[in-house]
Amino acid sequence: IEIELLGILSPLLILHWEHGTGSPLCNTPDNAPCVLDHPCASNIMTQIRNQLAQLNRSAKDLFIAFSKAQGKPFPSDMRKICSHGFIKFPPFHANGTEKDKLVELHSITVFFVFSLDDITKFQKTFIRKDQNLHSKLKSTMDILAGLRSNMLCRLCSGHNMRPTDPISGLDISQKDWFHKKKLGCELLIKYARLIPVLARDF
Ligand SMILES: *[C@@H]1O[C@H](CO)[C@@H](O)[C@H](O)[C@H]1NC(C)=O
Ligand SMILES: *[C@@H]1O[C@H](CO)[C@@H](O)[C@H](O)[C@H]1NC(C)=O
Repeated sequence: IEIELLGILSPLLILHWEHGTGSPLCNTPDNAPCVLDHPCASNIMTQIRNQLAQLNRSAKDLFIAFSKAQGKPFPSDMRKICSHGFIKFPPFHANGTEKDKLVELHSITVFFVFSLDDITKFQKTFIRKDQNLHSKLKSTMDILAGLRSNMLCRLCSGHNMRPTDPISGLDISQKDWFHKKKLGCELLIKYARLIPVLARDF
């Protein structure tokens, strides 16, 4: 199975995302060579840092827009309700090599994208009217897709590897409405706390 590493996400990858949680990212063995169909931008590490900075700038607004859209009791009590969950992002070690940090950042990105994708679908279906939230979710997803594509390019061109860890997102499927909303806000609080660290230390 071939997955495009560059540019627009391949239909296969989109298919994986639409299946939501639990799909391994790709099925190639660890030692399969990675293939690029065109070279990475020469300033790719700068692009990655800029994308992290962009995400960092919008994380808090995303979280606020999310809480407003959920209705009572979320907007007034968001921090109290959502600060003590058990959601854990994959780890990040600021002292790692470039390659280690790219691999860790890639896992974090995939976990967040899978989770956010499920939450976005729920929000779109049940909380239709909030255009502000939907446009913030969409622009975050767009930046994440670009970030991920840049990381894969750099890992392939600079380190001759592609990450193969199977990563799942949160599973929100069995939860009632309140708990779906709560998981969404827990995720976004954790993200808003993590992203400044990533933007600083990557
Ligand atoms: C990085 O720091 C962690 C503790 O924060 C330590 O366990 C690890 O050995 C360090 N790794 C390197 C490569 O220095
Ligand atoms: C991340 O955003 C926060 C507040 O929005 C800001 O104070 C901080 O300097 C930013 N960090 C980086 C590395 O851009």
